[in-house]
Amino acid sequence: MPGERMLTRRIPSSGEEIGVVGLGTYRSFDTRLSPRKRTSLTEVLDLLFGAGGSVIDSSPMYGRAESVAGELLQQMDARGKSWIATKVWTRGKEKGIRKMTASLAKLRTGSVDLMQVHNLVGCDDHLDTLRGWKAEGRIRYIGITHYTSSALGELMGYLKQGGIDFVQFPYSIVDRGAENGFLAQCADLGVATMVNRPLEQGGLLHRARGPLPDFAAEIGCRSWSEYFLKYLLADPAITCVIPATGNPDHMLDNLRAGVGEMPDRDLRRRMAAHIHG
Ligand SMILES: NC(=O)c1ccc[n+]([C@@H]2O[C@H](COP(=O)([O-])OP(=O)(O)OC[C@H]3O[C@@H](n4cnc5c(N)ncnc54)[C@H](OP(=O)(O)O)[C@@H]3O)[C@@H](O)[C@H]2O)c1
Repeated sequence: MPGERMLTRRIPSSGEEIGVVGLGTYRSFDTRLSPRKRTSLTEVLDLLFGAGGSVIDSSPMYGRAESVAGELLQQMDARGKSWIATKVWTRGKEKGIRKMTASLAKLRTGSVDLMQVHNLVGCDDHLDTLRGWKAEGRIRYIGITHYTSSALGELMGYLKQGGIDFVQFPYSIVDRGAENGFLAQCADLGVATMVNRPLEQGGLLHRARGPLPDFAAEIGCRSWSEYFLKYLLADPAITCVIPATGNPDHMLDNLRAGVGEMPDRDLRRRMAAHIHG
C-alpha cells in the first residue's frame, strides 16, 4: 500500500478525524510475549501506524491484551501515534473506578481516548463516572458496546439519552441488523460508530474460500477480508471497523480495505447477494 493514505472519518461530537481501519485485540493480544509474538505484534502495530491508522480497541475482558498493548506501545514509543479505546466491564460505581484505573495502568498511560461500557454491564453505575473522567481529561470520549445485534435497540435507548460519543456493535456482511435504521439513527444523533466482529471472528474467511467474484476488481479488492471490510466501510455512517489480528499479513489485507474506492449501493447489493447465494 505504499503511498496510499487510509480514508478517515469524522467523529461527530468533536470533528476529529480517525482512520477507518483500526485493530481489535480480543484473543490476538491475549498472549504471552514470546520473542516471536513480540516481533509479529510489533509488526502488526507498525503496519497500522504506517498506513495512517491509529485505533486500538481493548478491554479488561481480554485477559493479557491491555498489558500486551501497553507494553508494546511503550517499547515502540508509539503512544502518540495510537488512539486507544478500552472498556469498563464490571458492576458498581466504585468497582468500575478501580477497574478503569487498573486498565490505564496496564495500558501504561494516564489517559485513553475512549472508555466504553462493555456489553452495557453496569451502564447506569458508570456513566456519571465517565462524564467526570471526560471533564478531567482522563478520557476523551464516552462509549457503549455490545456483542450482539439483538441489543441494538437497548444501545439506541442509551444513545437517545445523549452524552455518548461512540457506540460499538457487531456488523458484518452476514449480520446486517445495523442496516435496519440503527446506523441512520446514529448519524442523526451525531454518534460515532465502531464495528466489532466485522469478520465474524474469522468465520467469514473460512467460509469464503475460492476466488473473488470478478466485480470485486471494480473497487480494487484483492482479498476476501478487503471485500468484507469494504462492504461495511461503504456506509458513511460507519466511523471505523476494528478487525482483530496478530498476523502481519492479515493486518496488511485489512488495512487495504481502508484505501481506494468504496462500493456504491448497487455494488454493495451484489457483494451481499454473492455471499448469501
Ligand atoms: N462487546 C464488545 O465490546 C466486543 C465484542 C466483540 C468484539 N469486540 C472488539 O472487536 C474486535 C473485533 O472482533 P473479533 O476479534 O471478535 O472478531 P473479528 O475481528 O471479526 O475476527 C478476528 C479473527 O479473524 C482473523 N482474521 C483477521 N483478519 C484476517 C485476515 N485478513 N485474513 C484471515 N483471517 C483474519 C483473526 O485471526 P488472525 O489473528 O490469525 O489474523 C481472528 O481470529 C475484538 O478484537 C474486540 O476488540 C468488542
